[in-house]
Amino acid sequence: MDNPKQSIASNLNIAFLFLFFTSVVYLSVCSSSLTNPFRSFQKQSQCSLSNSTAVVAGGDELEEALSKASMDNKTVIIAVINRAYADQDITADTTMLDLFLDSFWLGEDTKSLRDHLLLVAVDQMAYDRCRFLRLNCYKLETDGVDFKGEKLYMSEDFIRMMWRRTLFLLDVLKRGYNFVFTDMDIMWLRNPFEKLSKNETEDLQISTDLFLGNPWDEKHLINTGFYYIRSNNKTIALFDKWYSMKGNSTGQKEQDVLLGLMHGGVIGELGLKVRFLDTLYFSGFCEESKDFRSVTTVHANCCRSISAKVNDLRAVLRDWKKFKKFMSYKRFANNINFTANFRWTGHFGCWNSWRIRNQTHRG
Ligand SMILES: *[C@@H]1O[C@H](CO)[C@@H](O)[C@H](O)[C@H]1NC(C)=O
Ligand SMILES: *[C@@H]1O[C@H](CO)[C@@H](O)[C@H](O)[C@H]1NC(C)=O
Ligand SMILES: *[C@@H]1O[C@H](CO)[C@@H](O)[C@H](O)[C@H]1NC(C)=O
Ligand SMILES: *[C@@H]1O[C@H](CO)[C@@H](O)[C@H](O)[C@H]1NC(C)=O
Ligand SMILES: *[C@@H]1O[C@H](CO)[C@@H](O)[C@H](O)[C@H]1NC(C)=O
Ligand SMILES: *[C@@H]1O[C@H](CO)[C@@H](O)[C@H](O)[C@H]1NC(C)=O
Ligand SMILES: *[C@@H]1O[C@H](CO)[C@@H](O)[C@H](O)[C@H]1NC(C)=O
Repeated sequence: MDNPKQSIASNLNIAFLFLFFTSVVYLSVCSSSLTNPFRSFQKQSQCSLSNSTAVVAGGDELEEALSKASMDNKTVIIAVINRAYADQDITADTTMLDLFLDSFWLGEDTKSLRDHLLLVAVDQMAYDRCRFLRLNCYKLETDGVDFKGEKLYMSEDFIRMMWRRTLFLLDVLKRGYNFVFTDMDIMWLRNPFEKLSKNETEDLQISTDLFLGNPWDEKHLINTGFYYIRSNNKTIALFDKWYSMKGNSTGQKEQDVLLGLMHGGVIGELGLKVRFLDTLYFSGFCEESKDFRSVTTVHANCCRSISAKVNDLRAVLRDWKKFKKFMSYKRFANNINFTANFRWTGHFGCWNSWRIRNQTHRG
């Protein structure tokens, strides 16, 4: 038998030699940063990251992305992004992503929410731009599908992208994360958590195109562009059921399928509690918020093309800035009729987007 002491000693020697060589390599890579002060930060971060990248590659990237973006109460804000929203068109001087982020800056009590926003990129360009802006990013891989172009409303690719997103969100729920899902063509003018119910018995709170007056009325036309959902067995069952309809719903987009499920009684069946959100707070172009003092989000819904949405959402931000400016003069703010004096600029681009498309289709 070997002398155990001796073998420990030789193991230690080997270990020491190993350490010696790795530290020589480490120093020679990392010390190069000292020669050029401008490169030092970059180099340092590469070196200190060298062990964590190995962990990511072997681990679960989605879990990592979720936990990084999450609030203490396991809540994240999720938006899906593709190239058409991330990258400037030749004639454009901004993007939907930029407007979306501007709203977090211009909004009331929304700046800190940016840290809890997870952008789910469906193509490489969107992912690169997300990383460039140092946001929380996750690359959603889909075999053999290219989601990078503008998806015209109800085109085949549009519908496919929507279903891929539903499957992804089901995964997030199964991991125990509650989330706010937001389309990127929504301006966040106030912190929505202030207006969403905190009652834990409410499983889903979802925006509507038109608010009918009673938040529990299941006849509402839902809009899946904005909702807050808690992760539990019931909501997982709902998303499971929703996604299972994918093959059965040719020509229908996922929102209409969910609407069909709801009107078919799925809420009662699964024992869900669903609140339909008032457009006074969670508004859109289909139905504007009646009061600037209450408005929380503005969705470019009832609209068909990206350029129309971008133009009309810019007008929304202009209206909002004017309102904020006005409110900074407290003297006037106290005795003014807001509903009479503050109105949203018309959404001319979006109104026209339907007409123009019809004409081109006919032509
Ligand atoms: C990575 O490196 C850091 C500091 O260099 C260290 O604290 C941490 O434990 C390392 N992680 C792993 C998994 O080795
Ligand atoms: C989760 O935490 C955030 C930040 O503290 C808070 O704004 C939000 O209301 C919380 N959500 C719920 C449902 O309690
Ligand atoms: C939550 O809603 C349930 C059912 O409507 C109600 O009984 C309960 O009192 C509510 N909880 C809170 C904290 O408001
Ligand atoms: C959800 O379902 C799992 C397994 O079916 C069960 O263990 C768990 O208790 C359920 N949780 C709730 C909140 O009903
Ligand atoms: C899909 O459609 C078939 C035939 O119409 C029906 O038998 C089946 O139950 C449907 N599946 C779901 C999940 O609704
Ligand atoms: C404000 O103006 C609206 C529309 O002109 C009107 O319906 C409402 O009664 C006014 N409110 C007050 C408090 O004067
Ligand atoms: C555009 O076409 C759709 C369906 O093809 C139709 O419902 C809508 O009324 C048309 N709009 C206009 C302005 O012609």
